[in-house]
Amino acid sequence: MRIPIMAGNWKMYKTIAEAMAFAEAVKEPLASVDGVEKVICASFVSLAPLAEAFRGTSLKLGSQNIYWEEQGAFTGEVSPLMLKDICDMVIIGHSERRQYFGETDETVNKKIKAALAHGLVSIVCVGESLEQNQAGETEQFVGKQVRAALDGITAEQMGSIVIAYEPIWAIGTGLAATADDANRIIGQVVRAAVKDLYGSDVAEQTRILYGGSVNTRNVEELMQQPDIDGGLVGGASLKPDDYIMLAKVAAGVKGAA
Ligand code: 13P
Repeated sequence: MRIPIMAGNWKMYKTIAEAMAFAEAVKEPLASVDGVEKVICASFVSLAPLAEAFRGTSLKLGSQNIYWEEQGAFTGEVSPLMLKDICDMVIIGHSERRQYFGETDETVNKKIKAALAHGLVSIVCVGESLEQNQAGETEQFVGKQVRAALDGITAEQMGSIVIAYEPIWAIGTGLAATADDANRIIGQVVRAAVKDLYGSDVAEQTRILYGGSVNTRNVEELMQQPDIDGGLVGGASLKPDDYIMLAKVAAGVKGAA
């Protein structure tokens, strides 16, 4: 059985004080929520204080980006060496980074390898644009992104890779993919690509999340889909009560399966 993940991607929101208030608010209520990995991906400045706040809890911490070199003259970047002691996971290749910060399939692949080398679990994002979706190119494009991201990654290393299917048109729009469509792309395109590359055992074990306007109203139906192993959630993860509910639903629905 794949343990579900409920990952909050805070994007460029929350000061350190706000991040700490969130941690305080969710710690108790989430203490008894088992059967789901609860991950918060915060901005770099909040990671060290959050790591302290999360110590001794079941909450995990992720960064939203990483650089692939360990150190050097790379002004403004943050290396895996700096992150590995405070983070469990790292989001790689989010569509906002691909769109605004020049990330490519190649840099995504380099970053995954850097994360692997330092024991960080990667949450690798893939997903098509509205134009690609409307042109019927989703399957081909997303399949290609998955293959490019995983270039040179071994079957053994796949245990440290989580994939998030986030259709760009669904991010921050309030318009999530239907549960059926999300399940279909995740199963027939993303998991199928993993199966093609590594065989059915690895494909069965790989956790694949859905992201894009997940909220407290649609989470249950999304989590009920057999190929969806959790969520990567932006807006709804910013509110403690909403995040608590999302984690509980993922645990409940998947735990009962
Ligand atoms: P929203 O949940 O705000 O649509 O954001 C999704 C996302 O980009 C998570 O990485």
